[in-house]
Amino acid sequence: MNTVEVKDFAPRARAGICDFMGGEDRVKQPFVWADGFICNFNIRADEPWQSPSADVPGWHEDGDWFKHFLDGPEQGLLTIVVWSDILPQSGGTFVAPDSIGHIARKLAAHPEGLYNREARFDQMIDQCERFEKVTGEVGDVFLIHPYMLHAASSNPSGRARFITNPAVSLNEPMCFNRPDGDYSLVEQVVLNALGVESLDWEITAERERVVPERVAKQKKMLEEQKERLGVACLWRQS
Ligand SMILES: [Fe+2]
Repeated sequence: MNTVEVKDFAPRARAGICDFMGGEDRVKQPFVWADGFICNFNIRADEPWQSPSADVPGWHEDGDWFKHFLDGPEQGLLTIVVWSDILPQSGGTFVAPDSIGHIARKLAAHPEGLYNREARFDQMIDQCERFEKVTGEVGDVFLIHPYMLHAASSNPSGRARFITNPAVSLNEPMCFNRPDGDYSLVEQVVLNALGVESLDWEITAERERVVPERVAKQKKMLEEQKERLGVACLWRQS
C-alpha cells in the first residue's frame, strides 16, 4: 500500500544497485520500494529442513509480467530486502549462482523471446551444481543477477521471516556490444557466461507486457485490506 523512495530510505543500497546496473542514468524512475512483504511463517515446517539442492521444489526465475529476452530491461536486477533477521534454516531464500549461464544461453538462442511460463526456466535447475542460501540481518540488501534461479526454503524455526524482492528496471535494454566497452556488471556477467567479449544480438519479435492472474487477486486483496483498515480507523475514532 505504501512506497518509499530508495534514494531517501536506503542510499547505500541505492548506490550499490546503480553501480551494478551501470550508473543511475540507466535506472528507471520512479525507483521505489513497496511494503508488499513476502512472509515465510512456517513453510513446510512439519518436514525436516532440506539443504538447497535441485531436489527442493519451487525453483523459478522472476518476471511473470513480461516476455523474456536476453537484453530485457524490465528486470535489470533482482533485489532481496531483508526486514527481519534470517538465521540458518529459517526460511532464507535459496539461490543457484551457476544458473545464470544456463539461462543466458537459453535466452541468447531465443531472439523471438520467451514467456516465463513456456520457457520452463525451472527445469534448468537440474543442470546447476552450486546452491546457496540467504541468511542476513535486518537491513541487509541482496543484489542478485536477474537470471538467477531461486526458491523459497522451508522454515521450521518458529521465527517469521520477512523480505521484499523488488525488481529494478532499466531505462533501455541491456547492450552487449558497447563500442566504448562501458558494460554494466550485470551485462558483463552475461558476456562472461556466454564466453564472449561482445555480442551482436537483436530481438526478432516485439517486447510484450503480460498481465498475470495474480494481479487481479492482489488487487482484490488490496481493496479488502483498505476496507479493513478503514473499519479499524472508524472504530478507533468512536
Ligand atoms: Fe522469486
